[in-house]
Amino acid sequence: MNYVKYVWMNGENIEWNKALIHIMTPALHYGVAVFEGIRAYFNGDEWIIFRLRDHVKRLFYSAKVYRLKVNYSAEEIEKAIIDLIKLNKIKSHIYIRPIIFRGIAKKKLSLHAAIAAPTQIAIALRIVESKLDNIEEFEKYRKYKIVSWRRPTPDSLPIYVKCAANYANSALAMIEAYEAGYDGAIMMDHRGFISESTGANIFMVKDGKLVTPPLYASILAGITRDTIIKISGDLGVEVEVRDFNRTELYSADEVFLCGTMAEVTPISEIDGIIYNEGKPGPVTRKIAQYYYNVVNGKVTEYVHWLTKVAI
Ligand SMILES: Cc1ncc(COP(=O)(O)O)c(C=O)c1O
Repeated sequence: MNYVKYVWMNGENIEWNKALIHIMTPALHYGVAVFEGIRAYFNGDEWIIFRLRDHVKRLFYSAKVYRLKVNYSAEEIEKAIIDLIKLNKIKSHIYIRPIIFRGIAKKKLSLHAAIAAPTQIAIALRIVESKLDNIEEFEKYRKYKIVSWRRPTPDSLPIYVKCAANYANSALAMIEAYEAGYDGAIMMDHRGFISESTGANIFMVKDGKLVTPPLYASILAGITRDTIIKISGDLGVEVEVRDFNRTELYSADEVFLCGTMAEVTPISEIDGIIYNEGKPGPVTRKIAQYYYNVVNGKVTEYVHWLTKVAI
């Protein structure tokens, strides 16, 4: 089991098995739960949390949109995360999942509870692997499908918000892709432009340049996407942030997904179109290697993105 001993819940470190919520919790019924996915890379001596401040900032932004009142400051949440890592002492890479949600209401459960019940907050950790130090996993053949489900319009759900409700859309997309025999889904936005995958942003490589959809293409404003946009210039790789459609995606030289969990994930095939003979392309490899150096603190220019936690 890749679970750990302690969870932080409403200000206390409690045992994993005791970190429970009631069946009538409004977040479960109405989807009002905002969360983050953060990575800490373990290098044998310390954990390096990547862009902790930016993740906590997005968490607070998400909470604000759903009027989830948080009784902790961003600094207190950052400290709780660091302390929880130290307490659990897991000597491996870690996925950090803070979540803020509508807790149990005193009165009967109604949709009103989704906007009025008290806020609860928790942080859980999970042991994860990194594709970036597992070459076999990185090289794996991945076959994706552009599914019929579209990303919600930005005026139907606040798409920059990492809210549980948005993932019902991702779940439907995954069901469609898996049932059709694919490894994952890519979605279009309401206009028919490529948006993103179910839990990761997308880049295509065309004529040596990176191209990624704009924020208004119903994407989550991914922190990994932002990282790649900021670091690719160091490699002499230009980035264009612009719309592209399915036809143009088919004509790409390489395609990869990116996200905290996904890191840099090469895509071999979309709808039967095979990229670079099904192997990660040269630009994808270059970006993945450099990203790996950045998250591991090997590029001094970006050490401000790292929070080091000593054993
Ligand atoms: C729908 C979606 N898009 C993109 C991303 C990538 O975001 P980030 O790089 O901030 O992890 C995620 C992952 O959290 C996601 O769930």
